[in-house]
Amino acid sequence: MSLSLSQPALLRSQNFINQQWREAGQHRRLPVANPATGGTFAHVPDSDADDASQAVDAAAAAFPAWSRRPARERAQLIKRWHALILANQEDLALIISTEQGKPLKEARGEVLYGASYVEWFAEEATRICGDIVAEAVPGRKLLVLEEPVGVVAAITPWNFPLAMIARKIAPALAAGCTVVAKPAEDTPLTALALVWLAEQAGIPAGVLNIVTASRANTPVVVDAWLADSRVRKITFTGSTPVGKHLARESAATLKKLSLELGGNAPFIVFDDADLDAAVDGLMASKFRNGGQTCVCPNRVYVQDAVHDAFVERLAQRVGALHVGPATEEAAQIGPMINARAVDKIARHVEDAVARGARVVTGGKRLRAEDGPHYYAPTVLVGATPEMELSCEETFGPVAPVFRFHDEQEVIRDANDTPFGLAAYFYSNDVRRIWRVAQALETGMVGINEGAIAAEAAPFGGVKESGYGREGSRHGLDDYMHTKYLCQGQLG
Ligand code: SIN
Repeated sequence: MSLSLSQPALLRSQNFINQQWREAGQHRRLPVANPATGGTFAHVPDSDADDASQAVDAAAAAFPAWSRRPARERAQLIKRWHALILANQEDLALIISTEQGKPLKEARGEVLYGASYVEWFAEEATRICGDIVAEAVPGRKLLVLEEPVGVVAAITPWNFPLAMIARKIAPALAAGCTVVAKPAEDTPLTALALVWLAEQAGIPAGVLNIVTASRANTPVVVDAWLADSRVRKITFTGSTPVGKHLARESAATLKKLSLELGGNAPFIVFDDADLDAAVDGLMASKFRNGGQTCVCPNRVYVQDAVHDAFVERLAQRVGALHVGPATEEAAQIGPMINARAVDKIARHVEDAVARGARVVTGGKRLRAEDGPHYYAPTVLVGATPEMELSCEETFGPVAPVFRFHDEQEVIRDANDTPFGLAAYFYSNDVRRIWRVAQALETGMVGINEGAIAAEAAPFGGVKESGYGREGSRHGLDDYMHTKYLCQGQLG
């Protein structure tokens, strides 16, 4: 492998099962590409069902001891892991940038962001508590305990290779669960590095296991976990079709599920908004990670009276974004993750233009001489609901602007989607703020704010964007079940 790190041991190329770094049973390997060039720079195991089951064997064997360990001891180990993540911030950021294409500055931010969940859940571990309920019948005591669900399978996406897996593993470990994890095939190296740091922190054998797999073998690994009754919960971030598959197939063993799925976020600018703040908010939320986030605005609605002024200010900012290889300090937009991603962005823009949208800035592939995966940050005006980009996540640096006349119309259009992850709006009218916040059918709403995710807040969606929450105290509940004890003969 060709990355120059201060701590070279962070670059792992094997699965981690029962405290051993191992090849996949069949010794198959999966290439990892740098999205800037499309060139392979590392290999990891391409695991199969046997590897997946061995990971569950280890996690199931480790569960009794880990779940009974005092919460404070679990918390101390997780805090040690947190400290090691911070101590290796620069190396981890370089791994993220190289395998995912996220600009270095943002990658450093992702390390802090992911670490904040680890710290939060280390602290929450010590606050797990149940209830003692007032007895209805004399001579009885009614007690409610919160217990870890058991073995958790964590399946994570490529767009936040560190933060997404951290915010699943940390609450699972804090609750007393053990984990089998599979990172996205495009970005396995950050996850392996994170697991190595957990090993260095002293997380015991079998408590945290990870296997990597290619796109072709991912269903084999996941199906093994779906069929295994020892896996009591699946936590997944990714597409809605895969989320529905997991929900269907886990029904046979009735696993608990947390699904953080696709979005189609509206971003609404009312005519009473602070336009500069709205442009800042849109730049932060739309162009973060090159627009490759589930919560980034997919549809920008701007009210008539401020439409032209807003578009002018937005286009100036978007046109000035520096596009380049993610590992270049100056880059603000890196390459998209792969060729399929760039093809989808290009298809959405072509479809919009064919249906009457106008490109204000961008609207084309870029820098083919450096690599195949760049797309120019783009602003379109004249977007309409018939366009593909109105119904489907573009997952790229494209801001399509829809013009609207009144509040009722924009709420109807904003909610006219099966998805309900995030929504944003800008207004300075306090009555409107409450009306609109309540009317939007999403799990999260940014009000005069474009950056809404935080470890202390419940992240998650409604409708076909899934269920379950990550972060906050609710994020821990998702890894526990409630047990009721009724003790009699006390009178
Ligand atoms: C996501 O895109 O799924 C996560 C984004 C975030 O945590 O802000």
